[in-house]
Amino acid sequence: MATGAAPTRTVPFLTRLTKHHRIPVNALEEASVQAGGELVRLHMGPFRPYLVTHPDHVQHVLTQNQTNFVREGMFWDPLAPLLGEGILSDGETWAESRRILQPLFTARYVNSLAEQMAVIINELIEETIVPGRPMDISRGVSAIVHPTIVRLFFGSKISTADIARLVPAYDVAVTAKAVRLVMPFVPEGMPMPGDRAFRRAIKDIDAVVYPRIREARERAREGLDQDSTDVVARLVSSREDVPGEEGDRRIRDDLVAMHGASTETSATALTWVWPVLDAYPGIAAKVYEEIDRVVGGDPVSTSHLPHMPYLRMFVNELLRLYPPGWILPRKAVEADVVGGVEVEAGSTMLLSPYLTHRMPDFWESPTVFDPERFATGWEAGRHRYAYWPFGAGPHVCLGQHLFQMEAPLLIAGILRKYRPVVHVDRPVTPRLASSLRPPPGLTMTLVPAGRS
Ligand code: HEM
Repeated sequence: MATGAAPTRTVPFLTRLTKHHRIPVNALEEASVQAGGELVRLHMGPFRPYLVTHPDHVQHVLTQNQTNFVREGMFWDPLAPLLGEGILSDGETWAESRRILQPLFTARYVNSLAEQMAVIINELIEETIVPGRPMDISRGVSAIVHPTIVRLFFGSKISTADIARLVPAYDVAVTAKAVRLVMPFVPEGMPMPGDRAFRRAIKDIDAVVYPRIREARERAREGLDQDSTDVVARLVSSREDVPGEEGDRRIRDDLVAMHGASTETSATALTWVWPVLDAYPGIAAKVYEEIDRVVGGDPVSTSHLPHMPYLRMFVNELLRLYPPGWILPRKAVEADVVGGVEVEAGSTMLLSPYLTHRMPDFWESPTVFDPERFATGWEAGRHRYAYWPFGAGPHVCLGQHLFQMEAPLLIAGILRKYRPVVHVDRPVTPRLASSLRPPPGLTMTLVPAGRS
């Protein structure tokens, strides 16, 4: 043991997973309560990852000694065939992608994307919502979020048929590995349910994405794409110096990783909106009042957003209780001491905003949904790492400002016309995928506002 390091506490986990096999996130919550903010190991047979919950320890792993904790091992390795060697990898390939992508996300460019987003979201709400008819909430939200992102990323360069092929393929790709996520000790070589579907989904994604990239590169060579603001055109111009298949692959990896990072997270977060509005009528009334007052009968635009502070607080609280990126594993390259506990080289560290956001030492009545926590000045006196739905440090989310505009555009776009009636007969609890989704099959009916 390193000098001054405390002995490591191990908390039972396999038994908890068996007990909570239907809702495994409850097993993690129980373990976190038992850990009480200390760094502990989860007993999962031979595999014993460290559970990192305390904001100080999150800060150490994601920022202070970040280079020692890489995105490899559990979660990352099974998804590597999908995400490739771009912005969601680590080390040199990640650094290069970050250098290329970060300048794209300037406030000006994000604002221009948000303006386009407003138009697309309003169109899709008109196209996809049938008032008075029960709809599956996850599917209904995805039917708006996924095509929005695809159209933003590819501009006019993608057909409706390709969008219809890409969206379900992504959905399969990010959910197919759920079994491996809760059983990370199973070696990659051993076949598991979902593996074949995952491989097929990647083939489908590549069959759509590669031809679009080649076309965009061809257009760029002919000087036809200079005014394009879509993400593919931007990526193509920033990778001009990498010709041929290698360049195509680099663009594909960043595009697919960004697509995965943006759609699954946004769709998951926006699916939680409806059961929460249903469960908290007092909060829902404030949300409706603000939207009615600010937006009225007009289509929602980015100019409305600064005038809807309550909706912003609501979204922040949504991401506190249901952060879609619920678990972020890292692998320790070298031995280290975290929170006074020695961590061996090669260890898996499990970080979870879901757990940190529910710690009673940092949040009063943590399980109560209360947007007022995010009233002006909420950050004062609060640990910087008590709230981190978008990650932190060098890997912090590139799309957080885009999401902060996408969320109110979609929520207000729907609520300016409709009110949700959610069909629930028991409390809505999360299920696991690569992000924290509500259970499948949750339905609601949207009824015209004023008549619920
Ligand atoms: C609710 C919405 C979102 C949530 C909760 C979310 C959350 C996160 C988190 C937790 C990370 C850190 C991953 C890590 O440390 O390993 C991350 C990274 C990332 N996010 Fe988001 N994200 C959201 C939306 C978006 C959107 C809309 C985009 C794209 C336009 C996006 C693009 C990215 C990218 C590219 C990274 C990787 C950054 C890097 O490693 O350098 N995200 N996101």
